[in-house]
Amino acid sequence: MAAKKSVEARVQELREVIRYHDRKYYVENEPEISDAEYDALMAELVRLEEEHPELRTPDSPTQRVAGAPTEGFATVEHSVPMLSLDNTYSAEELKDFDARVRGRLPGENVQYVVELKLDGVSVALHYENGLLVRGATRGDGRRGDDVTANLRTIRSIPLRLAGRLSDSSVEVRGEVFMPRPGFEELNRERKRRREAPFANPRNAAAGSLKLLDPSEVAARRLDAFFYQLMGADVATQHEALRAMRDAGLKVNPETVVVDDIDSVITHCDEWQERRKELDYDTDGMVVKVDSLAQQAALGATTRSPRWAIAYKFPAQSATTVVRDIIVQVGRTGKLTPVAILEPVFVSGSTVSRATLHNQDEIDRLDVRVGDTVIVEKGGEVIPKVVKVVRGKRKGRPRRFRMPARCPVCGEPVARPEGEVDVRCENVGCPAQVKRSIEHFASRGAMDIEGLGPALVEQLVERGLVEDYGDLYGLAAAELSGLDRMGEKSAANLVAALEASKRRPFARVLFALGIRHVGARVAQILAEHFRSMDAIMKASEEELASVEEVGPVIAASVRAFLSSPRNRRVLEKLRRAGVTMRGGRAPTARRTRLAGKTVVLTGALATMTREEAKEAVSAAGGRVVSSVSSKTDLVVVGRDPGSKYRKAKELGIATIDEEEFRKLLGGSAGS
Ligand code: IVH
Repeated sequence: MAAKKSVEARVQELREVIRYHDRKYYVENEPEISDAEYDALMAELVRLEEEHPELRTPDSPTQRVAGAPTEGFATVEHSVPMLSLDNTYSAEELKDFDARVRGRLPGENVQYVVELKLDGVSVALHYENGLLVRGATRGDGRRGDDVTANLRTIRSIPLRLAGRLSDSSVEVRGEVFMPRPGFEELNRERKRRREAPFANPRNAAAGSLKLLDPSEVAARRLDAFFYQLMGADVATQHEALRAMRDAGLKVNPETVVVDDIDSVITHCDEWQERRKELDYDTDGMVVKVDSLAQQAALGATTRSPRWAIAYKFPAQSATTVVRDIIVQVGRTGKLTPVAILEPVFVSGSTVSRATLHNQDEIDRLDVRVGDTVIVEKGGEVIPKVVKVVRGKRKGRPRRFRMPARCPVCGEPVARPEGEVDVRCENVGCPAQVKRSIEHFASRGAMDIEGLGPALVEQLVERGLVEDYGDLYGLAAAELSGLDRMGEKSAANLVAALEASKRRPFARVLFALGIRHVGARVAQILAEHFRSMDAIMKASEEELASVEEVGPVIAASVRAFLSSPRNRRVLEKLRRAGVTMRGGRAPTARRTRLAGKTVVLTGALATMTREEAKEAVSAAGGRVVSSVSSKTDLVVVGRDPGSKYRKAKELGIATIDEEEFRKLLGGSAGS
C-alpha cells in the first residue's frame, strides 16, 4: 500500500516536472535541462505507467501519441463560427478601417492590438476542466475536422492548462504552423523518398494535420500560436493573450498594444522588413480592437468581424535565372508555360518554378531561356515572373514558342480564335485524364466521396482507369491494394460510385467537363434537351439557339460529342447505369455561395478565371464582370484592379483566394 502510494506520488511528480520542462522548451524557448536528462525523466514515467497501467491518465505527457490511426475524421460543429478577416493592403485602407471603427463607437477611446498574421492552419481547442478534450480544424468556418489525436502530438500544445485556467472550460483558437527549418527538413526527406515536396510551410502544416496516423504527425515538427480565448473572464484582447500565456499556451511574443492607427501603421511597416528574421511564415499583420466590450458592440458580418482587419504584406521579389521553359497541361487541356528557375528564396520559401500564363504573356515580357528575371510572390500565391533584366541577357537566346503538339500525349493543340490559351483537345491525354477525373468526382459534379487527387493519381498511374468511364468498373478488391486504402475505404468508395450513378442528368452533363459547360449551362442544356441522345443528335445551330447558349458553347459541345473517344467514354457511363436523361433542375449544393453574385479581380494562383467561374456556379453562385451595389462578394487575387477599390468604396465584402477556396469547399478542382 505504502509502495503503491509512493509510485503514484512519483508518477505525479514526474508529470509535473516533465510538463514544466515541456513548457520551458516548447513554449518559452528556454530549456533548463539537457535532452538526456529530459529523456531519462520521460523513460521513468513510461516505465512506471507500463507497470501500473491503472495510473495512466489522458493528460499524461506519455499520452501524446496514444491515438490510433483512423479511417477519417469526424466532423465538429464550431460553437461560434470561425470567421475570416477582411484584408487591406495599404496604410490608407488601415485608416479607413480606423474611421469605420471610431464611427461606430462615437466618443469612445479605442486601443488596438497588433499581432502577426501567422501563415498556418487555424484550429479550435476545447479544454474542459483544464483538460484538452477536443481540437478541430477551421473547415468551412462552421464545421471542421476533429483532429484531436493529431493536435495532441504537438508538444507546444498543453494537454492540461496551468495557473488560473487550470480548472476552466474554455475554447482557444490559434494557428498551427510548421517552422521553416522543420519544413525544409521534411521536404528534403520527401525528395529522398521520391515523394512530392510541399509547396510551402502552410501546405505542409495543413497536410500534416490531415494525416490519419498520429504517430506520423508526431514526426512532423508542428508548432502552434494561440490568439483567441473564449469563455474566460477577461476584458481585453491583451489580457486574453496574457491569460493564455499564463495557462501554458504558446502566444506569439511579437504583439503590441497601441493607441492610434498611425502607430499601427508604423508597426506594420516595421514588420514588413523584420518578418525575415522569423523562422516561421507570416503573410501580414492582424489589427484588433483591444476592448472585448467594444468588439461585441462592433459585431461581425456573416463573414468577418468588424473589430479586426488583416494587413497583408505586399508581394516580395527576388532575382534569378530561367533555366528552362516547360509546358504543363491542366484539366481542360490548357497548356501553361512554366519557367523553371534557378532556385531562389522569396517570401518564406524556395521558388523553383513560376507561371508564365500563356504565349501573350511570354511575348509581353519577352522572357527567354537563360534570362535573368525578377520573380514576385505574395503570401500564398504561386510565384510569377514580372520582369526580365534585359541588361543581363547573354547572346541572343531563342524566343519561346508554344508547341504545336501536346507535350504529354502528342496530339495537335489548338488556339481558338480570340483566345490567349492553347489547348490539347484529346480527352485521353493522361494529364487531362487525371484532372478531368478529379472534376468528374468533385462535389458540384458527381460528388464521389473519397475520390480525391491522390487516389486519382494512383488509379491512372497504375492503369486501373483510362478515363472517368472506367471508374464504374472498379472492384473493391482492386482498390484495397492501393496506398492508404483499407478494405473499408475501398468498400466505401465502391458505394460512393454506386450512389453517384443516380445524380441528376444535369450534374452528369457538367461532370463530363465539356469546355464552357459549367453547372449552369449544363442545367440549361439538360432542361432543354432532356436526354443525352437528344443532345448528341442536336446540330450546332440547334444548340446555339437555346437561350443563354451561344455559338462558342455550341461549338464546344459539338466538338466534344463528335470525338469518337469521348463517345466511347459516354457509352461506358451509359452501360454502368449513370443517369442519361431527365431534365429537372439539379439542386445546387447548399454552399455559402448559393445565390450569391460574385466578382473576380486579380490573378488567382490555384485556378484559372474559367475554373473559378465554374466553381462558383457549381456552388450555386453567379460570376459577373463588374462591381455594383448588387455584388455580394469580391474575390481578390493578385494585383487586383479597380474592381477591388470599387468594392471597398461600396463596402462590399472581399475575400482572398484561400478563403475563396474554403467557401468553395470541395467544388473547386484540386
Ligand atoms: S484572429 C475572427 N489573429 O487568419 C477572426 N487570425 O484571414 C479571428 N490568422 O482564419 C482571427 N494569425 O487562421 C487572428 N493573429 C491572428 C492570426 C489569425 C493568423 C488567420 C486565421 C484566420 C485567418 C483570417
